[in-house]
Amino acid sequence: MASWQRTHTCGELRETHIGQTVTLNGWVNTYRAYNDQIFLDLRDRYGITQAVIDADHPEMFKLGQDVRSEWVISATGRVRERMIGSEKKHNAKLATGAIEVFVEELRILNACPTPPFDVLSLPQEGQTFNDPELANEDLRLQYRYLDLRRPTLQRTLAMRHRLNKVIRDNLDAQGFYEIETPLLGKSTPEGARDYLVPSRVSLGQWYALPQSPQLFKQILMVAGYDKYFQIARCLRDEDLRADRQPEFTQLDLEMSFVEMDDVFRVIENLIADVFKRSINVEVKTPFPRLQYADVMLKYGSDKPDLRYGLEIVDVGAIAAQTEFQAFKGALEAGGKVRALNVTGGADKFSRKQIDELAEVVKRAGGKGCAWVKVEAEKFAAGIEKFLAAPIQQQLRERLGAKAGDLLLFVADKEDVVCAGLGTLRQHLANALKLYDPNGLDYKIAWVLDFPSFIWDDDEKRWAANHHPFTAPQDDDLARLESEPGSVKAKAYDLIVNGYECGGGSIRIHNPDVQSRLFKVLGMTEEQAKARFGFLLDALKFGAPPHGGIALGLDRLAMMLTRTTNIRDVIAFPKNQKARDLMTGAPATVDAKQLKELGL
Ligand code: AMO
Repeated sequence: MASWQRTHTCGELRETHIGQTVTLNGWVNTYRAYNDQIFLDLRDRYGITQAVIDADHPEMFKLGQDVRSEWVISATGRVRERMIGSEKKHNAKLATGAIEVFVEELRILNACPTPPFDVLSLPQEGQTFNDPELANEDLRLQYRYLDLRRPTLQRTLAMRHRLNKVIRDNLDAQGFYEIETPLLGKSTPEGARDYLVPSRVSLGQWYALPQSPQLFKQILMVAGYDKYFQIARCLRDEDLRADRQPEFTQLDLEMSFVEMDDVFRVIENLIADVFKRSINVEVKTPFPRLQYADVMLKYGSDKPDLRYGLEIVDVGAIAAQTEFQAFKGALEAGGKVRALNVTGGADKFSRKQIDELAEVVKRAGGKGCAWVKVEAEKFAAGIEKFLAAPIQQQLRERLGAKAGDLLLFVADKEDVVCAGLGTLRQHLANALKLYDPNGLDYKIAWVLDFPSFIWDDDEKRWAANHHPFTAPQDDDLARLESEPGSVKAKAYDLIVNGYECGGGSIRIHNPDVQSRLFKVLGMTEEQAKARFGFLLDALKFGAPPHGGIALGLDRLAMMLTRTTNIRDVIAFPKNQKARDLMTGAPATVDAKQLKELGL
């Protein structure tokens, strides 16, 4: 070992080391220089230790005066108790707070210009994943290596390491094989645009990067691998959001000879293990199973946050008895009128704030929201004058309204009503603090019975709601061609606190059913063959009944670390414009490279 190399890490020393001579290596977290002493807090992945340089060592003291934040140094010296005079001066915030290193030899391993922002390493321990004040995110992404020094991010990446380890251990114990599938392949549609890679060897032809390993895992089932998983990178060229990245990671999984219950059992076992072993939270299994139609009605979303109530109620039958034009118009056009009762909300929102609620609905695609305040005898303000006394009474009963409540109504096409009230519900829950965003309350559930198809109004054809390999429910198969809109799928989503953290299905294992489904999606036989011939062939060669799921691991990591920003759980994320600000990707390439590719 070279003399500059560490004997201990910066998180290791305790009172039991007092008297020993040690060497620490690390980054200067903070420095405080006085006339007689310099204090350097040295940081590494393991923690922070205070080193003290005394003016009695003039040469070293001079060297120490040059040292600044984020310099890399080696400090050799004796471990001593932190004292002022004869009094103990322990720092309870640090695991190493009982001691300090009295430096006898200081070596500068590397200097550092003034960093563009503070690394911000508060001495937080344990399960804290939030830093209160951070520099601008684009700046942090540009200097990601500095940002990644932040203990919070180091804790997060440690958590992701643990997450992967628990997954591998758990699925190994449940009999799964981990198998890798190609990145360069043929396009597998998952509803987004592909990232394409030109072939140099076959000019004019393209690989697609996988949106998921969907077809490969199905083919592994045909090949008899029975239980497969992969921690797989997926690439989708889609508009980014706070919970979406163009490159993200799935726990992808597939099983043979299974029905939905079998997949659920595997995932419930795994998720319980993950929560227990990564954040010591017990989650109750089996998870509740919710119907798609129910959650859309009650929460206006297929991934509702179940940490709070605030349920949406259909008031169409009552609204139909009024002369209020917004209600009547929507109902006559085949739409819905639904409402939220904000308990005690009448006094909590000013007129201006109620107008802002209408803006929330507008941003979600609606026209706004109607409202009324509930008093002991009657309704007041808002649309009160359009609601006759008997109507008010019916609404009061239907919505369980009491004096002091605020009623909010949205009338529109059903999907607009869902989006409007669903978004409003979330907005209100935040505004009224109906849940603790940093709390350890996890509400996990399955959502089932999705429709197989959704109508694509632009293209005037049916589109697969999940992906086109999802099996329709047995009872609905007969209506596949005649009434596609009424067909439900053997598909399921896993939702956690308002996020879709996983999705999967039982697959079609019969080539005829698969061909029928492609036809419903408007594909000719030739088109289906050109795109998915290999799958149709494989299904003919003895495909077992099979099904699976993919969990979004980035989103799961968001849940475990309680962040709402997916970039907080990825070492090198892209920004909102899909750019890597550190390397500068995407970037132009040499003309020579393009020429070789025939571009
Ligand atoms: P799906 O498209 O639902 O299913 O994806 C599965 C899960 O992956 C996560 N996810 C994302 N996370 C971050 N950024 C994105 N852009 C992104 N897109 C999806 C979500 C989602 O629930 N092959 C099927 C799975 C199957 O049927 O087995 C699939 O990929 O958490």
